Amino acid sequence: MRVDAAQTFLWFVLPYLAVVVFVLGHIWRYRRDQLGWTSRSTQLLEGRALRVGSLLFHYGALAVIGGHVLGILVPASATAAIGIDEHAYHLISAVAGTIAGGSAVVGLLILIVRRGVFARIRRRTSAVDLAVYALLALVIGLGMAETLFHNLLASGNGYNYRSSVSIWYRGLFALEDHAALMAHAPLVYRLHVLAAWAIIALWPFSRLVHAWSIPLQYLGRPYILYRRRFRPARRRFAASAAEGYAGARALAASSDMAGAAADGSGVRPVVR
Ligand code: HEM
Repeated sequence: MRVDAAQTFLWFVLPYLAVVVFVLGHIWRYRRDQLGWTSRSTQLLEGRALRVGSLLFHYGALAVIGGHVLGILVPASATAAIGIDEHAYHLISAVAGTIAGGSAVVGLLILIVRRGVFARIRRRTSAVDLAVYALLALVIGLGMAETLFHNLLASGNGYNYRSSVSIWYRGLFALEDHAALMAHAPLVYRLHVLAAWAIIALWPFSRLVHAWSIPLQYLGRPYILYRRRFRPARRRFAASAAEGYAGARALAASSDMAGAAADGSGVRPVVR
């Protein structure tokens, strides 16, 4: 199946352009604006709606990403090989996709209404923020329309995007031109994907960069180190000197002194 130059541009050139802007944009942003590399949180201005909206949106979006990996990156032949036939896949993706997407939609709505309702937050909202919200609403809204009308409520197994959209998408990684598959997909899928490339291109110039700065090191080590109170070593040695040189050496070699340096934790033991 051949397609015209416009379709080739949309489905075979535009995706790479978006990725190039994404990569170069991040390098530029990192070199130019490290202090601005933040979510620009408004938690200090309002907390209750943020907590609910942000949790629903982020957990919903993470689940949606998991669903995209399964439905788009994993070939239908692989799920069939582990016993998931097309009907079972259809049920899993429709139900899980509706729950995950529904959570992201409700969360996003709360976040958007919160921004409009609270004047102090509204004043801190930039043009780029508005563009991000509009594109997120578009991508997620169109994605939900696909899941609801072409999957959950559709007759039979619905639209089989794994034999079109998914093959086109995986082909991009191998520089294979499957533009015809996308050109003939239903309109809502095409619009969803175009809006997704727009978000990817806008990403480095927006607050979305905070997604790459999850403080994972906090899981292993708290940012604030708590040190236990201890008597200065000078006084300890002075005290032990009174008991003689042998006593001081034994103390220096004692496990609590060695442990403080050796485990590298920075937490000094208490000396009683
Ligand atoms: C080029 C990248 C993308 C492709 C090829 C793609 C493709 C798809 C497809 C085929 C569906 C239908 C799933 C179903 O009916 O079971 C879908 C649904 C959805 N997509 Fe995307 N998508 C992309 C990017 C995104 C992005 C960046 C977001 C969010 C920021 C997003 C959010 C959603 C949502 C919320 C749904 C509905 C819930 C679900 O089924 O998971 N998509 N997408």
